[in-house]
Amino acid sequence: MALHVLVLHGPNLNLLGRREVGIYGHATLDEINQSLRELAQELDVELRIVQSNHEGVLVDALHESAEWADGVLINAGAYTHTSIALRDAVAGVGLPAVEVHLSNIFAREPFRHHSYLAPVCIGTICGFGPESYLLGLRGLVGYLRRRP
Ligand code: DQA
Repeated sequence: MALHVLVLHGPNLNLLGRREVGIYGHATLDEINQSLRELAQELDVELRIVQSNHEGVLVDALHESAEWADGVLINAGAYTHTSIALRDAVAGVGLPAVEVHLSNIFAREPFRHHSYLAPVCIGTICGFGPESYLLGLRGLVGYLRRRP
């Protein structure tokens, strides 16, 4: 049976492809979403993909996912390092979540080293560019399929 996964992209990720390309690369969000959709098809997973620059919209998307999703793949962007509300939403909804980042947040400025989300996620993948999302989806799906 197909699994259902919410993919959440946080603030400024809509600018990928022209935003700090030395850090985030040239791939656009549409290209990343396309490769996620191709992998999802291979893995028999249905994706709903949401990008928002607004914290509350991301919180609402998480709440709504409780109705239909089996798991969550999340790149919360800068909210990773600031948002207790997002952390509480992930914990409150209770779905298995995987945190991803394009860049290696631990090799960057100290304020990026802390993630409010990491303790409420099953795992974190960072530093592999767009591949982080694909690795994250594989990890999440593997986790969901292994569950009793
Ligand atoms: C990011 C890392 C965050 O620190 C930053 O604020 C982003 C993108 C990443 O994917 O590398 O917006 O989440």
